[in-house]
Amino acid sequence: MTDKIVAREAHIHGKLWDKLYDSYFSNPYLARDYVAVIIRAAYKCKPSVIVDLGGGTGFILEQLVAAGIAEDIRLVNMDESDAQLAMGRHPRITPRKGAIQSLRRTEIVKETESLMLICRSVLQYGGIFGQKPWLAHLRDQMKPGEWFVHQSGCSDDLEAALALDVLFEMMNVEKWVPHKEAFQELLTQAKFEVVDDFPMPPVGMPSDGLAIRYGVAPETLAKIKADLRRTCANRPDLFKLTPSGFTFNFPYRVFVCKAVA
Ligand SMILES: C[S@@+](CC[C@H](N)C(=O)[O-])C[C@H]1O[C@@H](n2cnc3c(N)ncnc32)[C@H](O)[C@@H]1O
Repeated sequence: MTDKIVAREAHIHGKLWDKLYDSYFSNPYLARDYVAVIIRAAYKCKPSVIVDLGGGTGFILEQLVAAGIAEDIRLVNMDESDAQLAMGRHPRITPRKGAIQSLRRTEIVKETESLMLICRSVLQYGGIFGQKPWLAHLRDQMKPGEWFVHQSGCSDDLEAALALDVLFEMMNVEKWVPHKEAFQELLTQAKFEVVDDFPMPPVGMPSDGLAIRYGVAPETLAKIKADLRRTCANRPDLFKLTPSGFTFNFPYRVFVCKAVA
């Protein structure tokens, strides 16, 4: 069964995905620092398999191939959406239908093999109650010393996280984004050591795109805009008025994590 939050946005999966948000999710330039840090981690830990959790169309794994990831590493794109997986373009990448919460190490690697996990822009789908159990589940599937490199929704400060979480709430979208101290704490609690972390370019979410993606009614959108004008008046880094409404910047951070005992 597909999560209702994934099913709700299935209409923009597949063919339309690459063009979403000014093609953020298919832009190699915007992904390059994340891709580079994955390549460096894979070089150090030499995994048997890299699984991209919620890997969408397989774009990040394709970038790893283009960047010369070692040829003996198996690449798996795990996603809940059939439409996203159907866009798979590279013969080296194995699509696997499934939810993060259902990942089983034993279904991916043999006892003697090693696993590396990557994940871009997916943990927010866990919502406020999902991120802790999802991280705990992922850590349970890993052995100490294995790596989990992810680019996740994460703001620099608490005010920005709150503004974004209220925006999701007003759109009736059960996604949730913490600020960086909270994320660090969640990862530590789940027994991940954060070896490195750095911000990534945000994705600009225009209000008309949000309306289509989440089916937000015009009057709700007008109220959201009025509220954001007030609450984010001093945050041009987050919120901008545009001729057709507004744009809100969804912030990202890369966390390079090692599973610890
Ligand atoms: C914002 S997109 C990111 C796609 C890809 N990671 C990228 O950066 O290009 C989120 C993806 O996560 C998938 N997804 C969301 N929740 C998921 C879950 N619980 N398990 C597996 N996939 C999930 C969606 O189907 C979607 O393809």
